[in-house]
Amino acid sequence: MEPHPAPIPPGLTAAGASGAPFVATIPVAELPEGSLRRVTFGDLDVLLAHTSRGIVAVDDRCPHMAAPLSLGELDGCVIGCPLHRGRFDLASGDPVQMPSTGGLDPDGRYHPTWSPEGSDPKPDVPGKKAEARRLTRTRRLRYYPVRIAGGIVEVAPPRP
Ligand code: FES
Repeated sequence: MEPHPAPIPPGLTAAGASGAPFVATIPVAELPEGSLRRVTFGDLDVLLAHTSRGIVAVDDRCPHMAAPLSLGELDGCVIGCPLHRGRFDLASGDPVQMPSTGGLDPDGRYHPTWSPEGSDPKPDVPGKKAEARRLTRTRRLRYYPVRIAGGIVEVAPPRP
């Protein structure tokens, strides 16, 4: 199937990106299905991901604590963050696995800290650090419009 953009989940287009002009990034041939690439517009780092549903452009910042998702792993539509094992669905913009540090999901539901299988349990010693973890909210992903024109992936970053 020809590479194509995936639909942006309702309400998750980045502020100022709707109707912004498209800007050329990389040849679509350099983004085969399953691959991830970072592209940068000024100080805005954007992740291009070729998911099983099509190509998406989102912030190259984890919705948890801003790690570069372009260093993560893509499995179908789900991207895994390299930092705290959070996993996010690029088809919906929602977390599918909360980070191992715990915290609040986008709807404010609390998730306790957890340890990956085979690792020692992480005791959460009460104090400011534990409180900061408890209050850290994982957000939904923010999307930028994508199109493919003349074999090039084009993205519409917000107007400066
Ligand atoms: S920064 Fe991505 S899971 Fe924490």
